[in-house]
Amino acid sequence: MVFLRSLILSASVAALAVLSNAASTPSDSITIKPTPTAHHGPTPTATTEPNPGHSDTHTDACGVLASTNHTELKYKHVIDCYNSIPFDSAQASTTLSTVLTIFKDYYVFTDSALARTAPKPFANAPYDIVGELEKIGRRKYTSDYKFHNDILEAVTGLGDGHADYGSMYLSVRVYLDEAKRGYNDCIVETINGEDALSYLRTYARDVYGVSHDPNARLNFMLASQTYNTARSLFTNFPGEFSQRITVPQGPYLDYRLKCPHKADTTELREEWRVHPLINASYTDAASYVANICMEPPETIEPPAEGSLLHRRDEPVRRIIKRAEFEPTLPPIGPQFPSADVLVTGNATVFYHLKDQPDTGVLVCHTFQPSDVEAEKDVILAGLIAFHAHNVTNILVDFQGNPGGWIDFSAFLVQMLFPNKNLLDASFPSDMRISKPFQNLAKLSYNIPDTNFFNAHDYINLSNGTAVYESNDLFDKPITLNRNGRRSLWTEVTTFKPSPLDTKHTTSLASFPWTAKPENIRILTDGRCGSACGMATYLWTALHNVAAYAIGGTHGEDLSMFSFAGASVMDFSVLQGDYKSANLTSPLADLPYKNKITFSWLEMYGHGRTTPLEYDAELYRPKHRLGFTPENARSREVLWMEVAAAAWK
Ligand SMILES: *[C@@H]1O[C@H](CO)[C@@H](O)[C@H](O)[C@H]1NC(C)=O
Ligand SMILES: *[C@@H]1O[C@H](CO)[C@@H](O)[C@H](O)[C@H]1NC(C)=O
Ligand SMILES: *[C@@H]1O[C@H](CO)[C@@H](O)[C@H](O)[C@H]1NC(C)=O
Ligand SMILES: *[C@@H]1O[C@H](CO)[C@@H](O)[C@H](O)[C@H]1NC(C)=O
Ligand SMILES: *[C@@H]1O[C@H](CO)[C@@H](O)[C@H](O)[C@H]1NC(C)=O
Ligand SMILES: *[C@@H]1O[C@H](CO)[C@@H](O)[C@H](O)[C@H]1NC(C)=O
Ligand SMILES: *[C@@H]1O[C@H](CO)[C@@H](O)[C@H](O)[C@H]1NC(C)=O
Repeated sequence: MVFLRSLILSASVAALAVLSNAASTPSDSITIKPTPTAHHGPTPTATTEPNPGHSDTHTDACGVLASTNHTELKYKHVIDCYNSIPFDSAQASTTLSTVLTIFKDYYVFTDSALARTAPKPFANAPYDIVGELEKIGRRKYTSDYKFHNDILEAVTGLGDGHADYGSMYLSVRVYLDEAKRGYNDCIVETINGEDALSYLRTYARDVYGVSHDPNARLNFMLASQTYNTARSLFTNFPGEFSQRITVPQGPYLDYRLKCPHKADTTELREEWRVHPLINASYTDAASYVANICMEPPETIEPPAEGSLLHRRDEPVRRIIKRAEFEPTLPPIGPQFPSADVLVTGNATVFYHLKDQPDTGVLVCHTFQPSDVEAEKDVILAGLIAFHAHNVTNILVDFQGNPGGWIDFSAFLVQMLFPNKNLLDASFPSDMRISKPFQNLAKLSYNIPDTNFFNAHDYINLSNGTAVYESNDLFDKPITLNRNGRRSLWTEVTTFKPSPLDTKHTTSLASFPWTAKPENIRILTDGRCGSACGMATYLWTALHNVAAYAIGGTHGEDLSMFSFAGASVMDFSVLQGDYKSANLTSPLADLPYKNKITFSWLEMYGHGRTTPLEYDAELYRPKHRLGFTPENARSREVLWMEVAAAAWK
């Protein structure tokens, strides 16, 4: 699967501390959970320049990295290799020119990002991505790594989970510590000498660009429970602070812990540990560039499930291939004593709370199952099982759902709130228009199912629910001035939706919760991205379902979802679209086989004029909750708390 492969490839350097700075408790302290957080800080400063004069067994830092036994790998081996790769100005100028064109002409939020106002829960300052990239063009580099990392940081600054520049420095993972040393529930007082919470908040604000809300970003940092499909269990996920996609700022982190049964504090210096993801197919800097950057090998070990990298890919829709599926029961025993598993799929799990037998919990942990049609059958089977167990109330748990197929998300929305009109679960949308984009659309118009730029796939909102009968959507753009920047746009349209199959909808009318907001609640930690955010928006804003948002900072707002308002595209897909239309792409291929994703179509809330991505008001939940050591460790505890609060 393309998505998985690229996902691993963008997994540059990640880190895992077993010491965890878990969720903040209502008292604003940080508890340590069995998983952690660590720092992907600003670019490490160059510590090693290539040193051809020096004669050692391995004069080449990448040669050292390749030949060092995995168990002995240190931070220094990695950063020294990266820093030793010489800057290649031709490669860099091609790369920068392609990235600049993407963000000038194709990225849909370039203008919106300049917006001055950021109402709560957002906190974004105006951001000029084109200006930031142009600054890189004016800078002098000696390190190739520094150059690519600066591009990554510029893109990260957008705070858009859909926009990503995957540097090709990819071959290792960094871990902090996996020893179990009895630090569970100790308070992390400081990290690198700073108050731990402010350290994490600063890191989440400056370095981790997946939301415009600093508190949602904070939740991404922290350890959490993630559903592991292969094992049919919730397992611990370390969080993005301790599992990095870039090389951390230094070789270790210093923690000061205050443990419950000890008078003194504990000082810990946690070194990053390195776990290679690929077999070393290089012996020096030159072969690193040739074999890893230019031709990435297959990875040997997929990243931990629930890794942040999932969030980057959200194709809009895909070709439906099969039907017919018998949902299976989970292969292993139940994880939670108070919640029975009724039905398990690959994106959803249906639990029944024993002590609150009128409540069913629908966990939806992704909108990108391997087989969408099979998963739709699972959802129907799960709802039927709820009904058979006399469930009347449904708690939908969206924590950590990174999104996926928009059609599939619209399907789930309609399984609880069936559409009254064809477009109820659709989003008014528009696209940036440029000449090369128009050329592609013109050729696509007569070829069905080739790409996203075929006007036949969009609805002319001035003509009921009919699709466009001409290419005017792309041929006759309108000019909009946003935040002082004028660009061409399509008029507002929407994808032609796929109506639900009657085999899925016929039972819905008999369920006691169908179309009843008082019987449904959403549980989220803000890490509900893209298609997950879209479902949350539709349920909360259009159907009045109340959501509980957990985590963040006590006393502050927290978004229900992140990066909800766009469809994302991988740059290589765009290049492929030009190729299959026999057009010359205006963008040069990237010298390195790295991955750039960007939002190309933006969506609006119904009746709204600010794109959903920037429409902060729509992100606010009705209810707030704080993590405790108990509910952070067990979904079961959390579900029971929410069910008790929701249905007294
Ligand atoms: C790496 O080191 C470990 C532990 O010292 C040892 O068991 C293993 O055989 C070594 N691997 C290689 C490839 O040398
Ligand atoms: C990596 O090396 C191991 C051990 O030599 C080998 O079994 C495996 O096939 C290699 N994997 C790749 C992707 O080359
Ligand atoms: C879930 O994934 C497993 C393993 O890939 C597969 O055998 C099963 O059919 C899938 N189930 C659904 C509902 O797609
Ligand atoms: C559901 O309620 C019905 C009617 O009260 C009852 O007969 C049935 O046993 C209940 N089913 C379960 C699984 O509790
Ligand atoms: C959309 O439909 C309206 C109403 O029928 C029509 O006037 C308009 O020309 C159509 N727009 C395009 C681009 O086809
Ligand atoms: C409006 O939609 C109808 C079908 O409902 C179609 O026949 C007609 O051509 C459309 N008009 C325009 C201007 O696209
Ligand atoms: C592109 O060119 C190839 C070979 O000339 C041809 O078979 C194909 O139909 C062309 N595609 C388009 C979209 O024009």
